[in-house]
Amino acid sequence: MNFSNRSSERELMDDSNLDALLLQEVYADINKVNEVLQGFFHSLRAMERIITENPQNSYTILDMGCGDGAMLRKVASYFKGRSFELTLIGIDLNARSVQLAKENSKEYPNIRFFEQDILALEANKLQCDILLCTLTMHHFDTDAIPTFLNQFVKLSRLGVVINDLQRSRMSYYLYKLFSLIFMKTKIAKHDGLVSIQSAFTKTDLIAFSNNLPNLEHHISWRWAFRYLWIIRNRKKDIPYE
Ligand SMILES: C[S@@+](CC[C@H](N)C(=O)[O-])C[C@H]1O[C@@H](n2cnc3c(N)ncnc32)[C@H](O)[C@@H]1O
Repeated sequence: MNFSNRSSERELMDDSNLDALLLQEVYADINKVNEVLQGFFHSLRAMERIITENPQNSYTILDMGCGDGAMLRKVASYFKGRSFELTLIGIDLNARSVQLAKENSKEYPNIRFFEQDILALEANKLQCDILLCTLTMHHFDTDAIPTFLNQFVKLSRLGVVINDLQRSRMSYYLYKLFSLIFMKTKIAKHDGLVSIQSAFTKTDLIAFSNNLPNLEHHISWRWAFRYLWIIRNRKKDIPYE
Protein backbone atom coordinates (compact mmCIF):
# COMPACT_ATOMS: atom_id res chain seq x y z
CA MET A 1 0.00 0.00 0.00
CA ASN A 2 1.47 3.34 -1.06
CA PHE A 3 0.58 6.52 0.82
CA SER A 4 3.11 8.86 -0.77
CA ASN A 5 0.61 10.08 -3.40
CA ARG A 6 -3.13 10.65 -3.40
CA SER A 7 -5.18 7.78 -4.82
CA SER A 8 -7.52 8.64 -7.71
CA GLU A 9 -9.84 5.70 -7.06
CA ARG A 10 -13.50 6.77 -7.08
CA GLU A 11 -15.72 6.22 -4.06
CA LEU A 12 -18.77 4.01 -4.51
CA MET A 13 -20.99 6.65 -2.88
CA ASP A 14 -20.20 9.04 -5.74
CA ASP A 15 -22.37 6.89 -8.04
CA SER A 16 -25.41 9.11 -8.60
CA ASN A 17 -27.56 6.03 -9.23
CA LEU A 18 -26.94 4.55 -5.79
CA ASP A 19 -30.21 3.39 -4.26
CA ALA A 20 -31.64 6.06 -1.93
CA LEU A 21 -32.11 3.66 1.00
CA LEU A 22 -28.58 2.34 0.67
CA LEU A 23 -27.25 5.92 0.49
CA GLN A 24 -29.13 6.68 3.70
CA GLU A 25 -27.43 3.71 5.40
CA VAL A 26 -24.02 4.87 4.12
CA TYR A 27 -24.59 8.34 5.62
CA ALA A 28 -25.70 6.71 8.88
CA ASP A 29 -22.31 4.97 8.96
CA ILE A 30 -20.41 8.18 8.11
CA ASN A 31 -22.34 10.08 10.78
CA LYS A 32 -21.52 7.38 13.31
CA VAL A 33 -17.77 7.80 12.64
CA ASN A 34 -18.16 11.57 12.99
CA GLU A 35 -20.15 11.15 16.19
CA VAL A 36 -17.83 8.59 17.84
CA LEU A 37 -14.63 10.39 16.80
CA GLN A 38 -16.08 13.90 17.26
CA GLY A 39 -15.34 14.88 13.66
CA PHE A 40 -17.92 17.69 13.56
CA PHE A 41 -16.65 19.30 16.71
CA HIS A 42 -13.46 20.78 15.22
CA SER A 43 -15.42 22.65 12.54
CA LEU A 44 -17.95 23.92 15.09
CA ARG A 45 -15.19 25.30 17.33
CA ALA A 46 -13.49 26.98 14.36
CA MET A 47 -16.80 28.57 13.32
CA GLU A 48 -17.39 29.77 16.87
CA ARG A 49 -13.99 31.41 16.87
CA ILE A 50 -14.65 33.24 13.59
CA ILE A 51 -18.10 34.34 14.85
CA THR A 52 -16.67 35.63 18.13
CA GLU A 53 -14.06 37.64 16.28
CA ASN A 54 -16.63 39.10 13.88
CA PRO A 55 -19.78 39.99 15.84
CA GLN A 56 -22.85 40.35 13.61
CA ASN A 57 -26.61 40.00 14.05
CA SER A 58 -26.77 37.20 11.51
CA TYR A 59 -24.54 34.82 9.59
CA THR A 60 -25.01 32.82 6.44
CA ILE A 61 -23.21 29.49 6.50
CA LEU A 62 -22.61 27.46 3.36
CA ASP A 63 -21.77 23.76 3.58
CA MET A 64 -20.10 22.41 0.42
CA GLY A 65 -20.72 18.70 -0.19
CA CYS A 66 -23.27 18.61 2.62
CA GLY A 67 -24.31 14.96 2.13
CA ASP A 68 -27.40 14.22 4.21
CA GLY A 69 -27.10 17.60 5.98
CA ALA A 70 -25.86 16.25 9.32
CA MET A 71 -23.22 18.98 9.70
CA LEU A 72 -25.73 21.80 9.27
CA ARG A 73 -28.09 20.22 11.76
CA LYS A 74 -25.17 20.09 14.21
CA VAL A 75 -24.45 23.78 13.48
CA ALA A 76 -28.11 24.68 14.13
CA SER A 77 -28.14 22.79 17.44
CA TYR A 78 -24.72 24.01 18.61
CA PHE A 79 -25.57 27.70 18.12
CA LYS A 80 -29.21 27.46 19.24
CA GLY A 81 -30.19 30.24 21.65
CA ARG A 82 -27.27 32.52 20.71
CA SER A 83 -27.84 36.21 20.09
CA PHE A 84 -27.45 35.96 16.30
CA GLU A 85 -29.51 34.42 13.52
CA LEU A 86 -28.22 31.72 11.23
CA THR A 87 -29.13 31.01 7.63
CA LEU A 88 -27.76 27.59 6.72
CA ILE A 89 -27.36 26.40 3.13
CA GLY A 90 -26.14 22.98 2.02
CA ILE A 91 -24.85 22.20 -1.46
CA ASP A 92 -24.38 18.73 -2.91
CA LEU A 93 -23.96 17.27 -6.38
CA ASN A 94 -26.02 14.18 -5.64
CA ALA A 95 -29.78 14.77 -6.05
CA ARG A 96 -30.54 11.84 -3.73
CA SER A 97 -28.32 13.29 -0.99
CA VAL A 98 -30.07 16.63 -1.32
CA GLN A 99 -33.46 14.92 -1.07
CA LEU A 100 -32.34 13.00 2.00
CA ALA A 101 -30.91 16.16 3.57
CA LYS A 102 -34.24 17.95 3.04
CA GLU A 103 -36.22 15.09 4.58
CA ASN A 104 -33.87 14.83 7.57
CA SER A 105 -33.97 18.59 8.23
CA LYS A 106 -37.73 19.24 8.20
CA GLU A 107 -37.57 20.40 11.82
CA TYR A 108 -34.97 23.04 10.97
CA PRO A 109 -36.63 26.02 9.25
CA ASN A 110 -33.33 27.88 8.78
CA ILE A 111 -31.66 25.12 6.72
CA ARG A 112 -32.01 24.90 2.91
CA PHE A 113 -30.38 22.54 0.44
CA PHE A 114 -29.55 22.85 -3.25
CA GLU A 115 -28.24 20.49 -5.89
CA GLN A 116 -25.07 22.09 -7.24
CA ASP A 117 -21.69 20.97 -8.56
CA ILE A 118 -18.83 22.52 -6.57
CA LEU A 119 -16.81 22.64 -9.79
CA ALA A 120 -19.43 24.90 -11.38
CA LEU A 121 -19.72 27.50 -8.62
CA GLU A 122 -20.22 31.10 -9.65
CA ALA A 123 -18.54 33.76 -7.55
CA ASN A 124 -21.51 36.12 -7.44
CA LYS A 125 -23.98 33.46 -6.28
CA LEU A 126 -24.25 31.84 -2.85
CA GLN A 127 -22.35 34.53 -0.97
CA CYS A 128 -21.91 33.57 2.68
CA ASP A 129 -20.12 34.59 5.86
CA ILE A 130 -18.51 31.23 6.61
CA LEU A 131 -17.99 28.38 4.18
CA LEU A 132 -17.66 24.81 5.47
CA CYS A 133 -16.22 21.87 3.58
CA THR A 134 -16.19 18.66 5.61
CA LEU A 135 -14.91 15.33 4.24
CA THR A 136 -15.55 16.53 0.70
CA MET A 137 -12.27 17.93 -0.65
CA HIS A 138 -10.72 14.46 -0.88
CA HIS A 139 -13.37 13.55 -3.50
CA PHE A 140 -11.61 15.82 -6.03
CA ASP A 141 -8.53 15.43 -8.20
CA THR A 142 -5.55 17.51 -7.08
CA ASP A 143 -5.75 19.60 -10.28
CA ALA A 144 -9.36 20.64 -9.57
CA ILE A 145 -8.82 21.72 -5.97
CA PRO A 146 -7.12 25.14 -6.43
CA THR A 147 -9.91 26.30 -8.77
CA PHE A 148 -12.73 25.66 -6.35
CA LEU A 149 -10.71 26.86 -3.35
CA ASN A 150 -10.39 30.19 -5.14
CA GLN A 151 -14.16 30.27 -5.50
CA PHE A 152 -14.63 29.31 -1.84
CA VAL A 153 -12.53 32.30 -0.80
CA LYS A 154 -14.49 34.65 -3.08
CA LEU A 155 -17.84 33.37 -1.78
CA SER A 156 -17.05 33.68 1.94
CA ARG A 157 -16.84 37.07 3.64
CA LEU A 158 -15.23 35.93 6.92
CA GLY A 159 -13.58 32.58 6.41
CA VAL A 160 -13.44 29.03 5.13
CA VAL A 161 -13.29 25.98 7.41
CA ILE A 162 -12.05 22.79 5.75
CA ASN A 163 -12.11 19.57 7.74
CA ASP A 164 -10.71 16.52 5.97
CA LEU A 165 -8.82 13.31 6.51
CA GLN A 166 -5.12 12.68 6.91
CA ARG A 167 -3.57 10.30 4.39
CA SER A 168 -1.45 7.91 6.41
CA ARG A 169 -0.77 4.23 6.88
CA MET A 170 -1.75 4.36 10.54
CA SER A 171 -5.14 5.97 9.91
CA TYR A 172 -5.79 3.44 7.11
CA TYR A 173 -5.25 0.41 9.35
CA LEU A 174 -7.01 1.91 12.37
CA TYR A 175 -10.01 2.73 10.18
CA LYS A 176 -10.04 -0.87 8.95
CA LEU A 177 -10.35 -2.02 12.55
CA PHE A 178 -12.85 0.69 13.47
CA SER A 179 -15.09 -0.06 10.49
CA LEU A 180 -15.22 -3.76 11.41
CA ILE A 181 -16.70 -2.81 14.77
CA PHE A 182 -18.85 0.22 13.97
CA MET A 183 -19.87 0.11 10.31
CA LYS A 184 -22.73 -1.76 8.74
CA THR A 185 -22.46 -1.01 5.02
CA LYS A 186 -19.82 -2.44 2.70
CA ILE A 187 -19.82 0.88 0.84
CA ALA A 188 -18.87 2.95 3.91
CA LYS A 189 -16.17 0.40 4.83
CA HIS A 190 -14.77 0.52 1.30
CA ASP A 191 -15.14 4.27 0.79
CA GLY A 192 -13.57 5.11 4.14
CA LEU A 193 -10.37 3.34 3.07
CA VAL A 194 -10.43 4.97 -0.38
CA SER A 195 -11.04 8.33 1.34
CA ILE A 196 -7.93 7.94 3.49
CA GLN A 197 -5.86 7.02 0.43
CA SER A 198 -7.26 10.05 -1.45
CA ALA A 199 -6.84 12.40 1.50
CA PHE A 200 -4.04 14.80 2.39
CA THR A 201 -0.75 15.25 4.15
CA LYS A 202 0.07 18.56 5.76
CA THR A 203 2.53 19.19 2.93
CA ASP A 204 -0.32 18.83 0.39
CA LEU A 205 -2.45 21.36 2.26
CA ILE A 206 0.42 23.83 2.62
CA ALA A 207 0.99 23.57 -1.15
CA PHE A 208 -2.70 24.42 -1.76
CA SER A 209 -2.51 27.30 0.70
CA ASN A 210 0.46 28.75 -1.18
CA ASN A 211 -1.91 29.30 -4.13
CA LEU A 212 -4.03 31.55 -1.90
CA PRO A 213 -1.69 34.36 -0.83
CA ASN A 214 -2.75 37.41 1.24
CA LEU A 215 -5.02 35.28 3.43
CA GLU A 216 -4.40 33.83 6.84
CA HIS A 217 -4.04 30.03 6.91
CA HIS A 218 -4.11 27.76 9.95
CA ILE A 219 -3.58 24.09 9.26
CA SER A 220 -3.64 21.81 12.27
CA TRP A 221 -3.83 18.09 12.90
CA ARG A 222 -6.82 16.97 14.96
CA TRP A 223 -7.82 13.68 16.50
CA ALA A 224 -8.73 11.39 14.85
CA PHE A 225 -6.48 11.69 11.81
CA ARG A 226 -8.01 14.89 10.49
CA TYR A 227 -6.68 18.19 9.28
CA LEU A 228 -8.51 21.37 10.11
CA TRP A 229 -7.62 24.14 7.68
CA ILE A 230 -8.98 27.60 8.46
CA ILE A 231 -8.68 30.36 5.89
CA ARG A 232 -9.50 33.78 7.25
CA ASN A 233 -10.07 36.90 5.28
CA ARG A 234 -8.91 39.23 8.00
CA LYS A 235 -5.53 39.20 9.67
CA LYS A 236 -5.80 38.36 13.37
CA ASP A 237 -3.01 38.32 15.92
CA ILE A 238 -4.37 35.43 17.95
CA PRO A 239 -3.40 32.03 16.54
CA TYR A 240 -5.79 29.09 16.53
CA GLU A 241 -5.05 26.46 19.13
C1 LIG B 1 -18.00 11.88 2.27
S1 LIG B 1 -19.38 12.87 1.85
C2 LIG B 1 -19.29 14.08 3.15
C3 LIG B 1 -20.65 14.53 3.56
C4 LIG B 1 -20.67 15.50 4.74
N1 LIG B 1 -20.01 16.75 4.40
C5 LIG B 1 -20.05 14.89 5.98
O1 LIG B 1 -19.11 15.46 6.53
O2 LIG B 1 -20.53 13.85 6.42
C6 LIG B 1 -18.83 13.81 0.44
C7 LIG B 1 -19.97 14.54 -0.24
O3 LIG B 1 -19.45 15.33 -1.31
C8 LIG B 1 -20.40 15.32 -2.35
N2 LIG B 1 -19.74 15.70 -3.61
C9 LIG B 1 -18.80 14.99 -4.30
N3 LIG B 1 -18.45 15.67 -5.41
C10 LIG B 1 -19.18 16.82 -5.42
C11 LIG B 1 -19.26 17.93 -6.31
N4 LIG B 1 -18.53 17.98 -7.45
N5 LIG B 1 -20.09 18.95 -6.01
C12 LIG B 1 -20.85 18.91 -4.86
N6 LIG B 1 -20.82 17.89 -3.99
C13 LIG B 1 -19.99 16.84 -4.26
C14 LIG B 1 -20.91 13.88 -2.38
O4 LIG B 1 -22.15 13.76 -3.04
C15 LIG B 1 -21.00 13.61 -0.88
O5 LIG B 1 -22.28 13.90 -0.37
